[in-house]
Amino acid sequence: MSQRHSDVLIIGGGPAGYLAAERAAQGGLTVTLFEKRAMGGVCLNEGCIPTKTLLHSAKIYETALKGGAYGVTADNVRLDHNAVVTRKDKVVKMLVSGVEGKMKAGKISVIKSTAVINEKNGAHFIVEGAGEKYSGRYILLAAGSEPMIPPIPGLKEGLEKGFAVTSREILELREIPEKLTVIGAGVVGLEMAAYFATAGSKVSVIEMTEKIAGYTDAEIASILLKDMQHRGIDFKLGCQVTGLSPGSVTYEKNGKAEKLSTDCVLIAIGRRPTIQNLGFEKLNIHTERGAIPTDNQLRTNVSGVYAIGDINGKSMLAHTAYREAEVAVNHILGKKDTMRYDAIPAVIYTAPEVAGVGETEESAREKGLAFSVKKLSTRYSGRFVAENDKADGLCKLLIENGTERLIGAHLIGPYASEMIYGASMMIESRWPVGDLKELVFPHPTVSEIIRETFFN
Ligand code: NAI
Repeated sequence: MSQRHSDVLIIGGGPAGYLAAERAAQGGLTVTLFEKRAMGGVCLNEGCIPTKTLLHSAKIYETALKGGAYGVTADNVRLDHNAVVTRKDKVVKMLVSGVEGKMKAGKISVIKSTAVINEKNGAHFIVEGAGEKYSGRYILLAAGSEPMIPPIPGLKEGLEKGFAVTSREILELREIPEKLTVIGAGVVGLEMAAYFATAGSKVSVIEMTEKIAGYTDAEIASILLKDMQHRGIDFKLGCQVTGLSPGSVTYEKNGKAEKLSTDCVLIAIGRRPTIQNLGFEKLNIHTERGAIPTDNQLRTNVSGVYAIGDINGKSMLAHTAYREAEVAVNHILGKKDTMRYDAIPAVIYTAPEVAGVGETEESAREKGLAFSVKKLSTRYSGRFVAENDKADGLCKLLIENGTERLIGAHLIGPYASEMIYGASMMIESRWPVGDLKELVFPHPTVSEIIRETFFN
């Protein structure tokens, strides 16, 4: 077995891993990155990018269907799911090759193999991959996460037979299931429900809690729920799934057993960090509740080993992973940098889109913060009205009493995903609301609603 040396060894080529590789190379470090599947990780291959590709097709289809109201008509408008998936594959391929190009440009050595930590030899870590040993001064663990598979009777068999799917396999379906049952009304469940309902499936969503969309502000989540119900998606909230068999799902509501007939079941109850079989025991890397604890420089308990992205279980979002990668690399380079998690935006790419950052009303109350809430319908935006005949949206801002700073912003409606970064910036830089009132927003844009809400 030969041995090669680089400054940094990175395990995983998703957003955390590939950005860390890029930044480390830009900082003058030599890098070896291990990736057993395609570069780009879940985000590029089976997460963010493919789902947004599908959802964009759904949006075009819906817009075309509603075109008559806007003076645009077309005959035989239809969504060809097979063609949508083919386009999705093309988009993914193009972006993956873009990441590969960046790796080449940075002279990053990419090893297409599973990597396992072998030992620490003096000042160097040894990682094994593709039958070779690689040494490095630092290890960045960026192995991501995988779908959680709960012990529901029949689920394992369903996954083996293809009657049940995870967020990975559902993206490969070439035909729309007539009836789709989604287990879990989190981000994955809602985005998939939105696409497949528009594409023609009869969609039911079974959710354990009484609320959809996890930690999303409750008022915004309930607007989204009503909108999705209006589109024909059936939500079964406060329900416990008890079993799966080909053609049906059984669940309990208030102790009463119910049965739902279905052609396909999507399991979307969350993801868990990939921490198995990486050789952590060789270095005694600590794990806690299935994730790797890290400090604000992304350091693990082992000096020289960092954990970035989903593997540390903190925020499980690609944009968090990017920033964590930068902070870890900066620490290696001796540059002062700190990870902050309180102004990370979250987006649900349904139609309407949902985007939020900072405290929700619920979390702010739980923390005992004194705050006021300002709300305004997006119909106060001229551009929104020009583009939307019947739809409505909401902008909701939480302002801390005394400091008069923005502590939370929540939006539902078109462009929410593109507007939320402005609110993140205000929270992150602790801007007093008064300063925002002096900013000039472009007109007509939906983003003006943020400024208008402050005045409301
Ligand atoms: P999630 O944690 O967002 O939602 C899971 C949902 O399943 C929760 O509402 C939970 O109450 C429910 N649940 C749990 N066990 C259940 C059971 N046995 N029966 C019924 N319901 C049950 O997880 P999800 O949607 O799978 O997403 C995984 C990760 O991927 C998240 O961290 C998410 O942030 C990330 N992601 C982000 C996206 C975005 O930023 N737009 C898109 C897709 C995923």
